[in-house]
Formats: sequence, C-alpha cells, structure tokens
Amino acid sequence: MINGVPQLEDLGDVAGKAVLVRCDFNVPIKDGEIVDDLRVRAALPTLSWLQDHGATVTACTHLGRPKGAPDPKYSVEPVRKLLAELAPGVTLLDNLRFDPGEEADDPAFVAKLVEGQDLYVNDAFGASHRAHASIVGPPRTLPSAAGRLLEQEVEVLLGLRNDPRRPFIAILGGSKVSDKLGVIDALLSVVDGLIIGGGMCFTFLAAQGHSIGASLFEEDQVNTCRRLLDGAVPIHLPSDITALGPGGKIGDPAAGGEVRQFGRDLPDGWMGLDIGPGTAAEFSDVIAEARQVLWNGPMGVFEDPRFEAGTRTVAEAVADCRGFTVIGGGDSAAATAQFGLADRIDHVSTGGGASLELIEQGDLPGLAALRDSVR
Ligand code: 3PG
Ligand code: MG
Repeated sequence: MINGVPQLEDLGDVAGKAVLVRCDFNVPIKDGEIVDDLRVRAALPTLSWLQDHGATVTACTHLGRPKGAPDPKYSVEPVRKLLAELAPGVTLLDNLRFDPGEEADDPAFVAKLVEGQDLYVNDAFGASHRAHASIVGPPRTLPSAAGRLLEQEVEVLLGLRNDPRRPFIAILGGSKVSDKLGVIDALLSVVDGLIIGGGMCFTFLAAQGHSIGASLFEEDQVNTCRRLLDGAVPIHLPSDITALGPGGKIGDPAAGGEVRQFGRDLPDGWMGLDIGPGTAAEFSDVIAEARQVLWNGPMGVFEDPRFEAGTRTVAEAVADCRGFTVIGGGDSAAATAQFGLADRIDHVSTGGGASLELIEQGDLPGLAALRDSVR
C-alpha cells in the first residue's frame, strides 16, 4: 500500500484470474509506426508480473482523441503489434475512446469493460488525471490495485513535492500561463527558484513592461504574472530571445523570415520562439547548482531547428546536473529523447498533464478510485 493505494501484492493470488489492466499506450504514431515506445515498455514490469503469477491479462488504452467513434487514424494496431513482441499473450482491447462511454464514465461502458474480469490494475499513470470510465469505473466492482509504473511515478513525483532536496529548481515552459497556473502556485510554495521559458515567458515579460512584439500573449494573465513575480521565490526569466521576423513561418524555414537575437524587448511584428544563448547559459548555471530539478515544457519551438537551441542547452544542463532530475513527460520528454539525453535523467515521467496535476493536487482521480476500490 502506498498512500492507501493497494499494490499488486494486495490482490492476493492472481493465478487463474482474469485481470483487466488499464495502460496509457497513447504513443506518438507516424505513418503507422510508433515514434516513441517509452509508454509501452514502461508497462512491461506490471504485465509480466501478472503473467508470471499465472493471470490472464487483458490490456486497454486510449490513443489520441477520436471523439467517441471509431477512426482508423487512432487504431491501436501498431501497439498491438509491439505488444505481441514484448508481452506475448497479452490481449489488447480496441481504443477505449472509440466509445463515447469512456470519456463520459458511462456505467454501461464500465459494465462492458469489467465483464468476465476478476481483477483490475491501473498502470496508466499518464491518464490517471482523467475521471474516465476505464480509470475510475472498474474499482467500483473489481478488487483493484496500482501497477508498478503508476506506483513508481507517484512515489517519485510526490517525493519531489513532499520531501525536496534543496536547492529545488523547477523549469517550466510551454505556451500558456493559464494552463500551468495551478502548478506554478503549487511549485512556488516548495521550490527555491523557478525558471520560466517557452511561450509563457512573454506574458511575464509583458508584466514587467517589456515589448514582446508578436509573441504569444495572454492579456488576462498579466496581473497574475505580476503577483507571482512579486512573491518571495526568485523567478528566472529570459534576458535574451531568439525571434522570427515578419513573414516567417514556424516549422517552415523555406518560407523565409529573418531569425535574430534580441534582449528583453522585441520590435513590432517579431515573434519570440526560443530563449537566447545568454539566457540558456544563465539557466544552465542555476540548474548546475540544484540538488533537485523538475522540468516540464520546452524553452522554445524545438521541433523547428531554428528554435531548438534553448531547449537543447537546458536539456544538456539537466542531464549534467548532479542533483536528482525529473522530466515531467510530454514535450520535454520528447525533446530529451530527440537529443539522446533520456538515459542521463533520473526519472522521465510517462505523464505530462498527470504529473503536473499530481504535483498540484497531491492526488489524482485514478489514485482515489483505487483507494476506494472494493476489496
Ligand atoms: C496524454 O498523453 O496526455 C495522456 O495519454 C492523456 O491523454 P489526453 O490528454 O488526451 O487525455
Ligand atoms: Mg494530455
């Protein structure tokens, strides 16, 4: 039991039992091929534990956002093929989100899922912030437990929050302040410094009175940014910016448009798309001193090679840091993998939204459901 959440051992003897395992196999797929199989590999300890103990395993997952109807674009077939290699004997159900009952937590859909099953295991950390049928439904009728991945993610991420090694530095990027406000507030009560890059830094810079050109801007968050900047915890913002000039197109260097470095102020029409090299070096110095780092959100539009340098430098700094380093899933995990640095990070989370919500709330709907499950 961790945090009152039952683990695999609490299920008793699983031999001969039918076990439904909710996984998060929502992997990036391009031309029918899985681009990053981290989430599939991460579920293997749970799947093989159950099989080794004699259970018959049915796995299920969502993939993408197909809006409640079958859509070949979101077929789980590539995952099924990989599972047949990595965990032979495990059956994989169709994409859960092909049925509108999944997102609606419809009791009739839950009943269909648990039919013929004796036990339920949730190993879908990355989806456990969703109160969907397959996450919160089965524990109402089946004895349930957390899988190994879910357990490990919760231990690492709650450990960051509840028992931090200091200095604890959090690095946040991504486009919107409004998306991350809850987690910023939660982090500011535990971190020793907060580094902010990515699209969201421009609303902070605007709150300081800088001109941000055509960069991402959330006018309704300016007062919030001011309040955060006035707080006791130092917030590190960019001191230089890499920007794309008028006429340029993100992700399309052939379309033209000049790329230039500026200080904290951008001319009209210029769009800040990465932190500048001076900032990347300053952020790296802060990261080097940390004994614990949490990173969520890229520093710029790293998918476009013209704007990847800031994210790459920060990723290298996190990889070089001697403290305990955690990447909170999503785009920063993808960037770390793209730069070949993933094995130099202590923990790369399989959950983006889920890891932020866990740090913010200290709990997730999927964990609460397991805690309350029938025994
Ligand atoms: C994710 O990748 O964020 C998880 O698999 C959850 O997917 P969702 O954001 O579409 O609910
Ligand atoms: Mg998501």
